[in-house]
Amino acid sequence: MRATVLLLVCLGLAALPLLDAAKKSKKVEKKVEVDELESLLENIEEKDTKAEKKNAEKNPCEDHMCGWGKECIVDKKGAPQCECIAKCPELDGDPMDKVCGNNNQTFTSLCDLYRERCLCKKKDAGCSKSSNAKVHLEYLGECKQLNECTDELMSQFPDRMSDWLFQVMKELKSRRELHKLEWEELLDEAETDDEKKHVYPVIWKFCDLDVKPHDKEVSHHELIPITAPVIPMESCIKPFLEKCDINGNGAISLKEWGKCLGLKEGEIQERC
Ligand SMILES: *[C@@H]1O[C@H](CO)[C@@H](O)[C@H](O)[C@H]1NC(C)=O
Repeated sequence: MRATVLLLVCLGLAALPLLDAAKKSKKVEKKVEVDELESLLENIEEKDTKAEKKNAEKNPCEDHMCGWGKECIVDKKGAPQCECIAKCPELDGDPMDKVCGNNNQTFTSLCDLYRERCLCKKKDAGCSKSSNAKVHLEYLGECKQLNECTDELMSQFPDRMSDWLFQVMKELKSRRELHKLEWEELLDEAETDDEKKHVYPVIWKFCDLDVKPHDKEVSHHELIPITAPVIPMESCIKPFLEKCDINGNGAISLKEWGKCLGLKEGEIQERC
């Protein structure tokens, strides 16, 4: 949960929101890897120590994962319990920490949004309105009047988005943050071949989003890293992505993604 909150809280609204999103999500991926590595190392150490020492200092909450808006508390019997976060971290009042929920309600931070959701699910007295049991993140920043997504903007959107993705890829490559040689090589190709210019970035982004779980489909949840920072300035992104789910199963396959972003049948190739 920590990593996810970090991911979303870190996402600032920059001039190139998609770029920023990609950049920050990469950073968090690295952080997650480090966390996993650390816990692995801890476990190895533990196995090495004698059995009598094993439980002596170990915090039962250490390996106990709690969902969004929850934290682990050790109960009287010494067992780990997930409870709603008692108090979200004090922030420095940066307006960009605020988030807008899908009910168009502004929350002080992402932590506050998920804390409220947890309290409302448990019908706790701290819940401010019961419908918030289903609230989720819509976009970063305070709720505002979004620009209308006109037919004209919508029709331009696939081109705008694939062009962005191309720029994002170029930027990540220049920082050596594409992480895979294959993508660097494909980008080189894209830069010299106008036909491929948009093809590879579109497929790359699909692979970048399809991580949790990696199941060759991008779910609503996996789209949040791209929609949350972008919605405030690109009101078409959400209706656009909704339309991409052609068979209406709640997730976007690579075929649907490619088609939606203007690729031709033969250009949509699996690369992850
Ligand atoms: C959401 O809230 C903002 C700010 O209070 C308001 O300007 C806007 O019209 C609301 N949007 C909708 C769809 O209700």
